[in-house]
Amino acid sequence: MSEELEKLFEYYRQGDNQYQIAGGEKGCYKLANDFYDVMEKLPESRKILFMHPGDLTESREKLARFLAGYMNGPELYEQKYGPLALGPAHSHLAIGSAEKDAWLLCMEKALEMQDWSEEFKAFMLMRLQTPASRIQNRP
Ligand code: HEM
Repeated sequence: MSEELEKLFEYYRQGDNQYQIAGGEKGCYKLANDFYDVMEKLPESRKILFMHPGDLTESREKLARFLAGYMNGPELYEQKYGPLALGPAHSHLAIGSAEKDAWLLCMEKALEMQDWSEEFKAFMLMRLQTPASRIQNRP
């Protein structure tokens, strides 16, 4: 990574910069809604779509609120639903590398739909690899 990009990523990590750059609560909701819109359409994500409840309203809400805290903004998920450990929240699901890749593909496509800089989109996609890998619970 270039020194310039490293500096930019360091800036994103400070305080709630990520949350602000993403457009705050509204930005988190847009990303989560675009993410699930993509998941509903993409053939590659059919399997993970069917792991979800038939009505995605609450999944959209939960992901949006989770993302706010994840971007160092307000803990909107916790305020409504209480504390969340991502691993245990997914442990009832069979998530191998194919399911992880499908999730990340939906996120990549959703990120492309945001009115954000390419650098910030790349930063978010990079950051999300870590929780996605931790959630993977089988090969
Ligand atoms: C690795 C691939 C992943 C798959 C296949 C996956 C799949 C799912 C599914 C099927 C649900 C609904 C569970 C249910 O209602 O029973 C869910 C919930 C959720 N997922 Fe994921 N997920 C993945 C990764 C992630 C990542 C990386 C994040 C956050 C960065 C995330 C955040 C959430 C949240 C916040 C919920 C709601 C949890 C709750 O309130 O119970 N997921 N996920």
